[in-house]
Amino acid sequence: MKHLLNPLDFSVTELDDLLKLANAIEANPQKYAHACEGKKLATCFYEPSTRTRLSFEAAMLNLGGSVIGFASSDNSSAAKGESVSDTIRVISCYADICAIRHPKEGAALVASSRSSIPVINAGDGGHQHPTQTLTDLLTIYSLKGHLDHLKVGLCGDLKFGRTVHSLINALIRYPAVEFVLISPEELRVPGYIREDILDAGHIPYKEVERLEDAMADLDLLYMTRVQKERFFNEEDYIRMKDFYILDKAKMTLAPKDMLVLHPLPRVNEISVEVDDDPRAVYFKQAQYGVYVRMALILTLLDIHVTDEN
Ligand code: NCD
Repeated sequence: MKHLLNPLDFSVTELDDLLKLANAIEANPQKYAHACEGKKLATCFYEPSTRTRLSFEAAMLNLGGSVIGFASSDNSSAAKGESVSDTIRVISCYADICAIRHPKEGAALVASSRSSIPVINAGDGGHQHPTQTLTDLLTIYSLKGHLDHLKVGLCGDLKFGRTVHSLINALIRYPAVEFVLISPEELRVPGYIREDILDAGHIPYKEVERLEDAMADLDLLYMTRVQKERFFNEEDYIRMKDFYILDKAKMTLAPKDMLVLHPLPRVNEISVEVDDDPRAVYFKQAQYGVYVRMALILTLLDIHVTDEN
């Protein structure tokens, strides 16, 4: 049985197949509309979410399946002190596949070790967020046509931003990808990403503080929110929260074909005036999140839709 805990759980070839399947679903959603009839997805969310949970649910409904679950730890037995391990053993009796989001790093891994159904990590603390990465890869692949030969700027909270950690993990497997890491000193990528992944893999990258200095030759700019909920004190958050604001003036420094991505939710880091710029693709990105999660559910449940189905 396969789980998705980390973007590296899929090989490059498997990822390629998944992205192609997502493109096929986008082109002909009707063909897949009954593929998961009789199947249930459980969404177990111990942390707030809009896009991830609802796009998972929309994905399963689009496939003809159904959805059960909880949207906060307050209205599950976690509030009574139940462990993730016990909860997942029970969920395994009710559903065919489970997406779990939890504030603790490693929670999805623990869940997978006790589960008899596929477990999808929908975000574990400040660690990883592999399905956001699938969404990001599908967006880049669909709009740029390739995942190699890219200069990728990652901007904002690179310390706590799990989407950034997962995206770096995934992109380093493609040839000629380089990174510009744009953050204040306090929010630099964690050492384990810098040393164990970038340095160890001889991946070209530089770290800069000013967004303006980085924009001129990027293929992609991936903006992120300062992760308020992971700060130890409010003062530090307030000092950091408006460090970067991408506005129309800064967009004039960027190449004509640079894409702006953001996992969302946006707070202040992208001014709404940028939304109409054709290079701003973050709302399209949210739509790709549904197709890629449909492809993921089919893949993990080992359901193959043929023309005869
Ligand atoms: C991200 C997350 O939860 O890590 N959101 C999402 O799933 N699209 C990014 C964030 O919350 O800033």
